[in-house]
Amino acid sequence: VPAARLAAVADPVLPAAERLGAELGIPRATADYRDLLRDPGIDAVLVCSSTDTHAEVVTQAALAGKQIFCEKPLDKDLERMDRVIEEVERSGVKLMMGFNRRFDADFARIREQVASGAIGTPELLRITSRDPAPPSLAYVRVSGGLFMDMTIHDFDMARFLLGREVLEVSVAADALVDPAIGGAGDVDTAIVTLRFSGGALGAIDNSRRSVYGYDQRVEVFGSGGMLANRNHRAHTVEHADREGFHGDPALDFFMQRYAQAYTAEIRSFVECVIEGTPVPVGAPDARAAAVMAYAAARSHRERRPVAISEVSRA
Ligand SMILES: NC(=O)c1ccc[n+]([C@@H]2O[C@H](COP(=O)([O-])OP(=O)(O)OC[C@H]3O[C@@H](n4cnc5c(N)ncnc54)[C@H](O)[C@@H]3O)[C@@H](O)[C@H]2O)c1
Repeated sequence: VPAARLAAVADPVLPAAERLGAELGIPRATADYRDLLRDPGIDAVLVCSSTDTHAEVVTQAALAGKQIFCEKPLDKDLERMDRVIEEVERSGVKLMMGFNRRFDADFARIREQVASGAIGTPELLRITSRDPAPPSLAYVRVSGGLFMDMTIHDFDMARFLLGREVLEVSVAADALVDPAIGGAGDVDTAIVTLRFSGGALGAIDNSRRSVYGYDQRVEVFGSGGMLANRNHRAHTVEHADREGFHGDPALDFFMQRYAQAYTAEIRSFVECVIEGTPVPVGAPDARAAAVMAYAAARSHRERRPVAISEVSRA
């Protein structure tokens, strides 16, 4: 991202900050993120710390007048999220949310085609989103749970791809991959069905363990046709022999699959900061996806469809 320069990195685990600093040629490493906020030479911050720190760091950054990019989710608690959003609005700084999949070339293309009417009226959306392996239990415990941590990307994709809001969420979910995840009060396998405003239906399926790589596919079906992407692989060479046809697994995980999207995302943030233009994905998107995650968690707990209006006052 040539228009920006990484001035400093903060992590309470100082050796981690120093290691990253050395790797990326960042001139300064500190254990306290507030050192960055006090530095008048720093225009913008990227908040990529653990989820349970976002609310505090984003609030402090807004009070310090820094432009903010924040990884998803903004917070696990809706009321606290609303307080953070109010603080950001009061401070007048930008807040861009890290919904990186919007910047993926395949998904951006599908969005454009849906919006241009290429498949008529959208009626069905399918999202398959399966991680190669579950995260550590330490991560699971502070993540906010599968719906807030993982499905939140799919909730954002659902709104993005159809350009419509979701009215109702219904969930079937379990801990089928690792009972310890169930023991921590979370699930690792889920099917989420959606009802959109305007009448379209959606289905998201998630797993924390896909042995053939990071499975990232979407399909939008409409009155005039269908749009779908394929998984990305290191190469597309197919080897055929007596046993059958063989190819590469899907790319391993998000750092490989979405490398281009992360770059495009940060370029977009930097451009908005420099040009003073609105961010393409901001606080209302953070809130809408979090509300869907809340509705999903309630649907799972209460084993019934949950209307978004039950969860959101907006
Ligand atoms: N958009 C995406 O594709 C994507 C992918 C992975 C993770 N994430 C999000 O990124 C965030 C981090 O995830 P991760 O997997 O890197 O977690 P992690 O637990 O591996 O790393 C978090 C880091 O934050 C540091 N940290 C904790 N408190 C801090 C503070 N106050 N100031 C600065 N640093 C602090 C920790 O020491 C650690 O180094 C999470 O919110 C997660 O939801 C987004």
